[in-house]
Amino acid sequence: MAPNIQTIGIANGGGDCPGLNAVIRGAVRSAILGRGWRVIGIQDGFDGLIWPERTMPLTVESIAGILPRGGTILGTTNRGNPFRYRVDKDGKKETHDYSLICCENARKLGLDALIVIGGDGTLTIARDLGRMGIPIVGVPKTIDNDLSATEVTFGFDTALHVATDAIDRLHTTAESHGRVMVIEVMGRNAGWIALHSGIAGGADVILIPEIPFTIETVCEKLRERAATGKKFSLVVVAEGVKLQPLDPEGNPFPAPRPGQVGILIGDAIHKLLKKDVRITVLGHIQRGGSPSPFDRILATRFGVEAIELIARGEFGRMVCLRAGEIESVPIDEAVGETRLVNPRGSMVRAARAVGITFGDPG
Ligand code: F6P
Repeated sequence: MAPNIQTIGIANGGGDCPGLNAVIRGAVRSAILGRGWRVIGIQDGFDGLIWPERTMPLTVESIAGILPRGGTILGTTNRGNPFRYRVDKDGKKETHDYSLICCENARKLGLDALIVIGGDGTLTIARDLGRMGIPIVGVPKTIDNDLSATEVTFGFDTALHVATDAIDRLHTTAESHGRVMVIEVMGRNAGWIALHSGIAGGADVILIPEIPFTIETVCEKLRERAATGKKFSLVVVAEGVKLQPLDPEGNPFPAPRPGQVGILIGDAIHKLLKKDVRITVLGHIQRGGSPSPFDRILATRFGVEAIELIARGEFGRMVCLRAGEIESVPIDEAVGETRLVNPRGSMVRAARAVGITFGDPG
């Protein structure tokens, strides 16, 4: 039997991502215009469930104009796990379990259902709050595109456009000066942004966490290019690449933070090749700004389908994209499994076929 829904909540958690506002808009418009429900926005991840004054009514009027806006009108945090909430007390860190308070406040706010938009961490929290009684529906989100249950996450396409545009720009200046350009892109565990933007931007070398590499093999490729008269090269690096045993002098690299990886690799190339190397770290530029048309459409479809799931009472499920269609899977199945690049898959094979090196023996 379809549940009797009057009021729903929407929360988003973890890092922001272009398209979050488009999901919110899709869900709010569909809930209000199509179903006559009331919608409450939960601010700053799950904080709005711990402190209900951090909630806001979402109406068709209040969300006007947010479709092309980056970021999220709800605010977000990746430090707000209500099951292990860290607080500062008298200069000391304490950890509190606020999950019961969240359930209690969801009831006080009159939420008949809660849409949670997030990546792996946020959806795991959502699943656990669901087990405690809050009727939850999930929407996957990450620019890294590494959630196993969905073919694509919104935000990825926008990040890919930013990264490809950056590589194109670096290409022309690299060519003018005959330099090696190292470009670090995001991708904590998976190399999707590096792989796609590297192919799209005509990179010579792509380094991703899924394919172990050596600096010597990378430099060998750059030497080969120089020998055929190509004075410049483009090296695209995912921030999550494993560097530990790869120092040319045998010293372990210190465990690098995102933003340092490109620098370490660029320095190592310079040391070995004695060539002019320049390093660009794209960082959060990939996460900011207006979502691409693809991401706006996908996010809208996800938001609308979340409402459909609630209307059918299909709680504990997450919307996803499969073969171009919007479907859903149990949140439990969706979390915990990272979708990595297959080193023997067709995308990597296509890259190798056009001469791109991954820094491995091949
Ligand atoms: O998971 C998405 C992501 O953008 C990663 O690519 C990146 O490592 C991380 O978030 C950065 O997070 P923060 O905004 O906390 O620095």
